Amino acid sequence: MAKLLMGKEVSARIKNELREETEKLKARGINPGLAVIIVGEDPASQVYVRNKERACEECGIYSEKYALPEETTQEELLRLIDELNHKECISGILVQLPVPKHIDEKTVIEAIDPKKDVDAFHPVNVGKIMVGNYDFVPCTPAGVMELIKESGVDVSGKECVVVGRSNIVGKPQAMLLLHQNGTVTICHSRTKDLAEKTKRADILVAAVGIPNFIKGDMIKEGAVVIDVGINRMPDKKLCGDVEFETAEKVAGAITPVPGGVGPMTVAMLMKNTVRAAMVNKSR
Ligand code: GUN
Repeated sequence: MAKLLMGKEVSARIKNELREETEKLKARGINPGLAVIIVGEDPASQVYVRNKERACEECGIYSEKYALPEETTQEELLRLIDELNHKECISGILVQLPVPKHIDEKTVIEAIDPKKDVDAFHPVNVGKIMVGNYDFVPCTPAGVMELIKESGVDVSGKECVVVGRSNIVGKPQAMLLLHQNGTVTICHSRTKDLAEKTKRADILVAAVGIPNFIKGDMIKEGAVVIDVGINRMPDKKLCGDVEFETAEKVAGAITPVPGGVGPMTVAMLMKNTVRAAMVNKSR
């Protein structure tokens, strides 16, 4: 039976450590603060934003939430970001994605001061990740790296296969694995003979957004399998990109959905917010 990589427990541990760290920082006059902006009524986004607010409380981080109506113009959103860029008590800014169609995501991301970009989505931060000299690590890939560490498997020299090439997960994930000396393959919707690639993986990260896409027979015996997918099924249940029932029989370690990568993403956001408070203080 595969070892279960419980993100819920690992993230609780990390948040406890962060709480101690924020207390020490506050004693030195450094106060981490996170602004979370959500535009529109997307129910999944509302849940994620609530989780982020709650995590701030748990870590002793000051937070401000801006819930803007669907009709908010791009100009209004950019004005708010500019205000927060200059606001002393705010060290990190996060605009929950996706934004409504009439707002250009790229313009919004680029409006955030890179020093407050706790998502690490700004091209400046993306570039820094590429060269391996970064303040912020994108939250979901960073959470995945923590769970791999939890599995006890050393990434160095291992075959790592990332399924998915998004800017939020797949691409930065590949870079983080590479920085730890993994041999990395990125697969995607045009990849030929996907199972042949995934079966080579000592470490397999699934981030495609297709429920139950990776089956047990696509996984190498004993592999570490990290499932980034959060798919809402017609019966309202959450389901990952990996077919858990068949995968856990083959994998050496595997993440559950929910309770795997999801809570780790939020913990890493908290870590970036604390880091941002230090970065902003020293500039
Ligand atoms: N939507 C889905 N994942 C994310 C994330 O990591 N950050 C933001 N801002 N929006 C998201």
